[in-house]
Amino acid sequence: MARKKIGLIGAGNIGGELANQIMQKQLGDAVLVDIPAKEGVAKGKALDIMQNSALYGGDASVIGTSNWEDVAGADVIIVTAGIPRKPGQSRDDLVGVNVGIIRTVADNAKKYCPNAFAIIVANPLDAMVFEFHRRTGFDKSKVAGMAGMLDSARFQYFLADAANVSVKDVRTMVLGGHGDQMVPISSMCTINAVPASQMVPADKMEAIIKRVRGGGGEIVKLMGTSAFYAPATAAIQMAESYLYDQKRLMACAGYLTGEYGYKDMFMGVPMVIGAGGVEKILEVPLTADETTGLKASAEAVMTVVDIVKKTA
Ligand code: NAI
Repeated sequence: MARKKIGLIGAGNIGGELANQIMQKQLGDAVLVDIPAKEGVAKGKALDIMQNSALYGGDASVIGTSNWEDVAGADVIIVTAGIPRKPGQSRDDLVGVNVGIIRTVADNAKKYCPNAFAIIVANPLDAMVFEFHRRTGFDKSKVAGMAGMLDSARFQYFLADAANVSVKDVRTMVLGGHGDQMVPISSMCTINAVPASQMVPADKMEAIIKRVRGGGGEIVKLMGTSAFYAPATAAIQMAESYLYDQKRLMACAGYLTGEYGYKDMFMGVPMVIGAGGVEKILEVPLTADETTGLKASAEAVMTVVDIVKKTA
């Protein structure tokens, strides 16, 4: 059976790490695509990763290119094309530049890989995935945004640290838009099925929730650009669930048709990803505070989507 083909659109920080992880896992043949001015970077990263794979004996390949023809027929595409935040910027500040980029990407994806499962990562996430879906006309099951898995991982790490337990046993979920109004669902946090509230007092949980919401900004402030290791791992987990039909239940941005009272928008919700793409969106019980938080988060997403719609 031929190896799967994975198009990585954007060969920047996340794109490079995605290619590296794909090779380490031998998940498929990767194609790192960037704009012509950055083709050298894409080719250089591909060479470095291939030479790295010689050290562990990988058979899969990665190439760098600025030619979409090389992505033709991809089974999965992961889109990180777009500028990241600088200190002091919000994700929403990126919309003016990144909406033009996502449209170019969408037009090429529609032309060269109409059957791909598309994982969008570029920010502002929920608006970018909305525009990609609108512009390509891809089925809603074939488009998902990566954010909730990353935000949930941040929550998981902070909670494990606070409770002084293994991160392996901590279960967390962050829903809503990928902005400062995201909704960490503390009512459902468990430490190996034990409610987290038994091990982490309410005031500490409040502080953790605040840190999760600002988790991306905390790293931007330290590094001058956004995180890329954890975002890449989260996107790879989504791709694996699709390619291996794992049917993992993950928090990702999905197209809503009335779930939680919202429709015609993308937002972070629990979903099952398998060979059928987004196979199911789950509606889980939320507390009154979480429902209010989700409303505020949805409104924040819609404000940015409205900006996108006005320029369409
Ligand atoms: P980066 O600046 O290192 O890489 C972005 C790459 O996209 C650059 O190499 C750029 O030349 C390329 N690019 C621009 N236009 C393109 C086009 N039309 N076709 C192909 N490539 C194009 O940025 P990084 O750190 O990789 O972040 C990428 C995006 O992901 C940013 O928008 C960032 O805000 C977002 N992000 C999203 C997260 C999430 O949870 N959803 C987490 C972290 C970052």
